[in-house]
Amino acid sequence: MNKPMIAGNWKMNMLQSEAMAFFKDLAEKTKNVTHLDTIDGVICPPATLLGLLSDAARTAKIELGAQNCHWEPKGAFTGEISPAMIKDLGVKYTIIGHSERRQYFAETDESVNKRMLAALGAGLVPIVCIGEYLEDRKAGRTQAVIQSQVKSLLSSQSMSPHVVLAYEPVWAIGTGLAATPAQAEEVHALIRGMLIEALGASATKIRILYGGSMSPGNVAELLAMPNIDGGLIGGASLKPADYFSLLEAGIARALTIAR
Ligand code: PGA
Repeated sequence: MNKPMIAGNWKMNMLQSEAMAFFKDLAEKTKNVTHLDTIDGVICPPATLLGLLSDAARTAKIELGAQNCHWEPKGAFTGEISPAMIKDLGVKYTIIGHSERRQYFAETDESVNKRMLAALGAGLVPIVCIGEYLEDRKAGRTQAVIQSQVKSLLSSQSMSPHVVLAYEPVWAIGTGLAATPAQAEEVHALIRGMLIEALGASATKIRILYGGSMSPGNVAELLAMPNIDGGLIGGASLKPADYFSLLEAGIARALTIAR
């Protein structure tokens, strides 16, 4: 297992006052925690909050990430945000290709690749999401869907240990019905195998997060799997106490590996 990453995806939630209250509470909780440096804690708020939260995140010892970025550095793309703009705010990460982007905003494997390349080019760390729909799983197509998504990412020639992947089965997102550790590990091992075959031993360093109803109740068993390097968490990242429990589980896992 690699250095665990506990990444919160706030989606379209939180106003300024709520976000500041979240970080105030979180900073109180992380204040006396040792070994926070054994994991990467990240929160991806709406872009409207990225500038506002930079000091508060630093105090809480958490990095910030965006939820998407465009592939062009600037220009006539109303409503989009460029990687350079995100970087300009001192932000380190950006989610790319979340299933909600693919589902509601017509993102494709191709546009995901363009966004990933642009993010890397600007010095951001992309957290690139893949995952199958419930129909795919029911029809026994999970493996084929994942293979096709990973192949597409590999075709961009930009997969490297700088990229973070997130396996998010769409049926598990926001449903309270997480994949079992065995179900998740099966797909993570498939992804890992493809990465190693294409890129060699360095691919063991690519972090593969699990996402989809991860919570304080199931995080430990999911992180105990050999190819699960952390989580991308929606609902449970909106409450400081829950997010902090996830951070603690990440630290506990990191310390077990270090021993
Ligand atoms: P969830 O969302 O934890 O609320 O299921 C995960 C995600 O969409 O990244």
